[in-house]
Amino acid sequence: MNDVFAPATLGPIMLRNRVIKAATFEGRTPDALVTDDLVAFHREVAAGGVALTTVAYCAVAPGGRTDRHQLWMRPEAVAGLRKLTDAVHAQGAAASAQIGHAGPVANAASNRVPALAPSRMFSPLGMRPMRVPDESEIRQLVTAHAEAARLAEAAGFDAVEIHFGHNYLVSSFLSPLLNRRTDGYGGSAARRARLAREIATAVRAAVGDRLAVTAKLNMEDGVRGGLTVPESLQVAAWLEADGALDALELTAGSSLLNPMLLFHGDAPRREFAKVLPAPARWGFRLAGRAFLKEYPYREAYLLERARQFRRELSMPLILLGGITNLETMRTAMAEGFDFVAMGRALLREPNLLHRIRSDANTRSACIHCNECMPTIYTRTRCVYRPDRTPQPIGPPDEGTD
Ligand SMILES: Cc1cc2nc3c(=O)[nH]c(=O)nc-3n(C[C@H](O)[C@H](O)[C@H](O)COP(=O)(O)O)c2cc1C
Repeated sequence: MNDVFAPATLGPIMLRNRVIKAATFEGRTPDALVTDDLVAFHREVAAGGVALTTVAYCAVAPGGRTDRHQLWMRPEAVAGLRKLTDAVHAQGAAASAQIGHAGPVANAASNRVPALAPSRMFSPLGMRPMRVPDESEIRQLVTAHAEAARLAEAAGFDAVEIHFGHNYLVSSFLSPLLNRRTDGYGGSAARRARLAREIATAVRAAVGDRLAVTAKLNMEDGVRGGLTVPESLQVAAWLEADGALDALELTAGSSLLNPMLLFHGDAPRREFAKVLPAPARWGFRLAGRAFLKEYPYREAYLLERARQFRRELSMPLILLGGITNLETMRTAMAEGFDFVAMGRALLREPNLLHRIRSDANTRSACIHCNECMPTIYTRTRCVYRPDRTPQPIGPPDEGTD
């Protein structure tokens, strides 16, 4: 049970071990389609030993992208994604598509489509007001998630991970701060959770038991008035009762309001200021310190919050956040987590798991400087890896997260 390297089931699929590559938007889709560079990225991660690699970001609609160089799920994208899943499978790993809608984190100026938010608010990224979807548009968004999952199946994915975190669209609906609606999708916790539950159920109906379906859920937003741990526990309990998900991956923070809670470690202020699109750059110069808060890095920094979810839920859980070595992975298994997910440590060393397998004392070379964060605008990478060629994916005033 505690063996990190033992095969394990994730809903209907069998994984070769319990380690998952977490979504790290790769910045390798300049035309919103798969490139050989993106295929090579995931082939390398798969060859490095993880069980499941997560392809990010697969938006469910063009306006659901954080910028227009991101992939969105449409029939033209399937052939490229098929090449990617074939490459991952050839290495003995499985592939998951992270699907979702960026909502208030979308860059309307770049997408040339208004960003969506549960209630009226101004977009600091697009420098314009966001649009508030009515109930019939919300139904279309639910359908778009189901359609994206169907396309992921057609492209050979083994799993889909639905994005319910980081104040992307669904997470912004969960937030009492961002969701001030008075219709069936706002107000009480039950109504704010409705969108998440409808999407999970629709995605499951779309793929049946042919694919695993997971969701990445915020345990808390880390923002005054935002989603808190007790409310998120309630949302998780509803999702568990609905039975549509095979596992929850537990995260925290807000790309919009408190990104450092996601990461902990150094705040790369100077590097961010250089690459942000113009209007956001000016705002960042004024408020960067308040935006990128200080959270000293420590191993498994989300474990304490996640333990509360483990206590209250019986469904499989994926521990995420600052996992870099075998000891931490074993702790996670011993505490009842079914899988662990790693982001930055695998950007630094895609073959880390192989190294850990051959030497249990292996330590990650990732120093949590977080300089990989701003590279999402220029081709996501660890700046300390030999292959650190930036490849601008768009004019600097248009790309954003
Ligand atoms: C460069 C970069 C890009 C990321 N992009 C995404 C993304 O597209 N979707 C997502 O849910 N999380 C994204 N994340 C967050 C990671 O999935 C993960 O939650 C976070 O890095 C904490 O895990 P770690 O300590 O193992 O890195 C990104 C992280 C990094 C460093």
